[in-house]
Parts: sequence; structure tokens; C-alpha cells
Amino acid sequence: MTRHFLTLKDLSPSELVALIHRAIALKKDPTGPQTADLMRLRTMVLIFEKSSTRTRISFEVACAHLGGSSVFLSPGDSQMSRGESVSDTARIVSSMADLIVMRTGEHNRVCAMAEHSAVPVINALSQDFHPCQLLADLQTFFEHRGNIQGACVAFVGDGSSNVCQSWVDAAAMMGFELRVGAPEGYHPHPDLISAAGGHCSVTTSPREAVAGADLVITDTWAGMGQEEEKAQRLAALTDFQVNENLMAIASQEALFMHCLPAYRGQEVSAEVLEGPQSVIWDEAENRLHAQKALIELLMG
Ligand code: CP
Ligand code: NVA
Repeated sequence: MTRHFLTLKDLSPSELVALIHRAIALKKDPTGPQTADLMRLRTMVLIFEKSSTRTRISFEVACAHLGGSSVFLSPGDSQMSRGESVSDTARIVSSMADLIVMRTGEHNRVCAMAEHSAVPVINALSQDFHPCQLLADLQTFFEHRGNIQGACVAFVGDGSSNVCQSWVDAAAMMGFELRVGAPEGYHPHPDLISAAGGHCSVTTSPREAVAGADLVITDTWAGMGQEEEKAQRLAALTDFQVNENLMAIASQEALFMHCLPAYRGQEVSAEVLEGPQSVIWDEAENRLHAQKALIELLMG
């Protein structure tokens, strides 16, 4: 059966832990003999309906390291921009290619791609989830602090963001406590919180979320597709900036993460983003290693 990766929950918890360890090993030996041939004579098609720097580059480089080729379709390139259906596109692309990586708006578009594709489909970000980001984020925590099980993680800002909602998925899978500090109207979807059982709580107090946390995370206040709401979002989220005052009440050993792109002076201060607790550059690089491990899992 064709396996897809649309949300983190498409992996079992043990597969997720194994994937993180594999990503750490691949980082040490990025082009070793075990990996050089996996994608030989195979092609990955990237269908991106939104902008990207990190995700596109990391997938294309990963595919090249694995001996494969890739085809990139930017928002205006495919006939989907002129109304061809996702289902027809899935049938066509999967008849020629071996792996589809899709970045889109409504999550149901990437689900439809998977439903009609004969080859694995990876969600490279939808409005609701960013599971590939979580692979790199978890890898980064493991590298700096070891297993995240039992840790206390705080997400501050827009709790309804795709990155935060994938952190909610991760909480129960990996067994850590996630505290989301977000204003009313910007909380993760209640169904996701329920599914996380006791592992996820939500507060409107950023200080309550961050107190004693081992990891503090944020994301942009206005994501792709939310440009028209930008002024309203910036006003609603203004008290939720991650800055040195907020970091001071986290654990002294706390790490700071951000998926990037970051907007200094909005969701995070420049001091925190560039400060000693920030692991954002490792986090970005780990996109490559974690996704290579993901491609191995789906294509191996
Ligand atoms: N973090 C992330 O997904 O970055 P890009 O939008 O640049 O791919
Ligand atoms: N939440 C952000 C993440 C960007 C990588 C967005 O959707 O734009």
C-alpha cells in the first residue's frame, strides 16, 4: 500500500523516533553508500502553490544526494492554476514520477492529491499542518537535549498556525507537555487538542505558557495566505512576542525555535532570535537531513 505523509500521525511514534535517529546519522554521513542510490532513476515532483526557501531547497538537495532528479512546479506553473483538478493532476504526475511533495493552502487539497496518487505524497505545508517542520524541530531538540519525552514545551503566538498544530500532534506521540500561549481566536483546533489528551493545554497568558519550559517556539503572526488579515493579526498578537523578558521565565537551559521566515520585532525580538538559546540555524539545516530520512522511509 502506498504510504503518504500528510500529518505527523501518518507515522507511528516508534517510526518517528527511528526517523529522528536516522536523520541524525545522515547528518554525520550525508552522501554515504547506504543513501547514494535510493532515488536513482526516480523522480520527485514538487508542486508548490505557496512560496518556499527552506522546504524546496532541502527536498531538492535531499533527492540529489539520494541519486534522484526533481521537477519543481511553482504556483503558476501547473494547469491546476488554471483549474485542472487535483485528482486529475495526481493521476498524471504519479504515472510519471515516484514521489510527490506538495505545498498548498487548504489541507484537503493535499489529501486529495494523496487519495488519487499511485505514489507517496508528502505534505510540505498546508494551512493546517507542517509535519516536515516537526521532523527537523524534533531532531534539533534530540541533538541539543536528548529525548523530548517528558519535556515541557511552550508555543507562544498564533496557536492556530500550521506549525503549532503539528506540535500539538507531536505532544501525545512523543509524550511531552505542550503549553500553547495564544489569544482568544488564535487557539489550535479543539479536535487536535482533544486528540492530544492531557499532553496539550492552552492559556491566554504567554507567561503561564513559558514558565519553566525547556523549549520555547513561535511562528509568524501572519502566515502565507493571511496577508489581508495582517493588521488585525498583529494587533491581536502584540502581547505575545517572544523576547528576553519572556525567555527569562523559561528554564535557564531553554532552547528557542522558529521555523523561519522570522519577522524580528513582531513575533520574536532580534535579541532572542540571534541569542545563545536560539537553535534556528540548526533547525533550518535539519530540514535536509530529516526529509532525507523521510524519503528513505517512504521509498525504501
Ligand atoms: N520553514 C519553512 O517551511 O520555510 P520555507 O517556507 O522557506 O520553506
Ligand atoms: N505558518 C507559516 C509557516 C511558514 C513556513 C506560514 O504558513 O506561512
